[in-house]
Amino acid sequence: MKTNEQRCLLANGCKVAGTAQCNDNCSHFIAIHGRSGNGGRVAAAGTPADYRLLTLANSPARESQAKVYRVIADYVATFERQFEADAPRIKSLYLYSESPGTGKTTTASMVLNEWIRRHYIGSLKRNQQPLQVPAYFLDINEWQTEYNLATMTNDDSAMAKIKATIQRTQQTPFLVIDDVGVRSASEAFRSYVHAIINHRTANGLPTVYTSNLPIEDMARVFDARLYDRMRDQCAFLEFGGESKRGRR
Ligand SMILES: Nc1ncnc2c1ncn2[C@@H]1O[C@H](COP(=O)(O)OP(=O)(O)O)[C@@H](O)[C@H]1O
Ligand SMILES: [Mg+2]
Repeated sequence: MKTNEQRCLLANGCKVAGTAQCNDNCSHFIAIHGRSGNGGRVAAAGTPADYRLLTLANSPARESQAKVYRVIADYVATFERQFEADAPRIKSLYLYSESPGTGKTTTASMVLNEWIRRHYIGSLKRNQQPLQVPAYFLDINEWQTEYNLATMTNDDSAMAKIKATIQRTQQTPFLVIDDVGVRSASEAFRSYVHAIINHRTANGLPTVYTSNLPIEDMARVFDARLYDRMRDQCAFLEFGGESKRGRR
C-alpha cells in the first residue's frame, strides 16, 4: 500500500489526502500525474520515472545533505516570486560533487517537482490557468545521444525534434540541466547547450544545473563569457560524501 506522498505530488498540504475523496479521479491528481499516473505535468517535464514523486519533505538525500537542504528549503520558498511582478529574480542553482551518487539528480528533480506543485497551486489560488509544461528536465547525456543519432542518420524529423527541444528549454519558466558538461561533445552540440543557457541567463530564467565538474570548469566547457553569466544570480552547492547509489 502506497502512502499518499508516494502517489501524488500535491499530497503534502492537500485537504483531502488520505480521505475517501483522494482517488485517481481527482482532477488535480490528473493535472499533475495524468489519468494513468504516468502522465500530466510531471511526465510532460520529462523527469526520470524514479524521481517523479520526490518533494522537499520526502527526498532521501535530505538528511545526509542537511546543509545543502537548508539552503534549498529557503530557495524553493522564493518560487512564490513567479507570481509577483516586481519581485527579485529567482536564482539558479549549481549542484556539484566530483563523485556520482551523492543525490544531485535526486535533488534537482525534487526542486523541479516543487516548482510544478507551487506553480500549479499558486496559479489556482490566483484564478489563473496553470501552464501545461511549467518546467522541463533536460538530461544532457540522453539528449546528446539523441543528437548524435539524428546527425548520423541524417534524419530530418529527428533533427526537428532536437530544434524543438532547444526552443522549449530556452523558454520554459524553469529548467533542470542534468549532468552539464560531462562528456566530450562536438562543437555543434556544445553550441546548442550554449544557446540554451545563454538565452535563459539573458532573460533571467532560473536553471538548476547538476555536474561533476566545479562551476569554474564551465569557462573551459563553454567560454568565459557564458561562465560569467552562469555564475551571476546562481547559488553553488557542493554535495559531500560517498556514493549512495544502490542503497535504499
Ligand atoms: N544523500 C543520499 N541519501 C540517500 N540516498 C541517496 C543520497 N544520494 C543519492 N541517493 C540515492 O542514490 C541514487 C543515485 O542518486 P542520484 O541523485 O542519481 O546521484 P547523482 O546525481 O549525484 O549521481 C538514487 O537512488 C538516490 O535515491
Ligand atoms: Mg546524476
